[in-house]
Amino acid sequence: MKIRGRDYRSVWMEEGVVRMIDQTLLPFDFRINDCGSFIETAEAIRTMVVRGAPAIGAAACYGMAQAALAGKLNEGERVISKTRPTARDLFDAIEYFKKKFVGSNAVEVACAYADESAERCRMIGVHGEKLIKEDMRILTHCNAGALACVDWGTALAPMRMAHYRKRKFFVWADETRPRLQGMLTSWELSEEGIENKVIADNASGYLMKEGLVDLVVVGADRVAGNGDVANKIGTYEKAVLAKENGIPFYVASPSTTFDLACASGKDIEIEDRGSEEVEFVKGIGSDGRLSRVKVSPVGCRVENPAFDVTPAGYIKGIITEGGVVKPGKVKDMKFI
Ligand code: MRU
Repeated sequence: MKIRGRDYRSVWMEEGVVRMIDQTLLPFDFRINDCGSFIETAEAIRTMVVRGAPAIGAAACYGMAQAALAGKLNEGERVISKTRPTARDLFDAIEYFKKKFVGSNAVEVACAYADESAERCRMIGVHGEKLIKEDMRILTHCNAGALACVDWGTALAPMRMAHYRKRKFFVWADETRPRLQGMLTSWELSEEGIENKVIADNASGYLMKEGLVDLVVVGADRVAGNGDVANKIGTYEKAVLAKENGIPFYVASPSTTFDLACASGKDIEIEDRGSEEVEFVKGIGSDGRLSRVKVSPVGCRVENPAFDVTPAGYIKGIITEGGVVKPGKVKDMKFI
């Protein structure tokens, strides 16, 4: 991805150190966070310094390489697998590493995983850009961009590709409470020169009803065997609204996010991230410094499910690296 005109990946490895763009500081500050051990890498995944399913997967694979180099592979697996439960890519990456690791190739294996992950997302762009027509207004939820992947993004890959092919279109970015990943989406799109506006999460129904949305594309954290899709909380309501308003709703997801062992969305574990993320909001204060303010009343009780499940029936297609899959055909991966 281009940031200030320079090419970056969201996460990479240099001399045993896992380096990642610190997503907790964006869009206010651009810094690289260094993790010198698998414990630090796992902590960065848990605390969302690195976030988004494919980026979590790549970070997990690099963390496994650090654990292998320290002779602590089993401990690495135990610690990393407990960081975040919903993103399927985390577990895919651990399995990949265990299968390919043979003694001295730890870093090579992890780098290969990250390269393959970036290529899968590029191919999502190749297949998905055909859905984007001139002057379309596209709505997306959360951040399914290059920051959330190694590169390119999932939902944002088709947009990047269409933009590189000089197509003109516009993006509505849901702000995505409580962690405001929509601000990262807007930041990424603006860095690439793609026209966009952030909207409050509850504005999307109005925009759809007014005829201001032509297409919805979101990412995924886990795709079940029946085509149900777990993604950032709020995705389900966008899908229902899209159907109600006759707007095509697509999911963009690499095969590493597919979990055929999950028969349906009911089997997907939904991460509960606790109350603090809802109670506090982070931003730049009037003194120009990053600060955190409480927005909930004292003693207020909070529920904070991080993901929801969109039933397959609401999804027109899943854009994968191999083509667009009908959600009902996920099991046999027949591309439409
Ligand atoms: O909690 P996060 O920020 O890791 O969740 C990210 C998402 O839900 C993304 O929409 C998802 O991973 C899409 S694919 C990049």
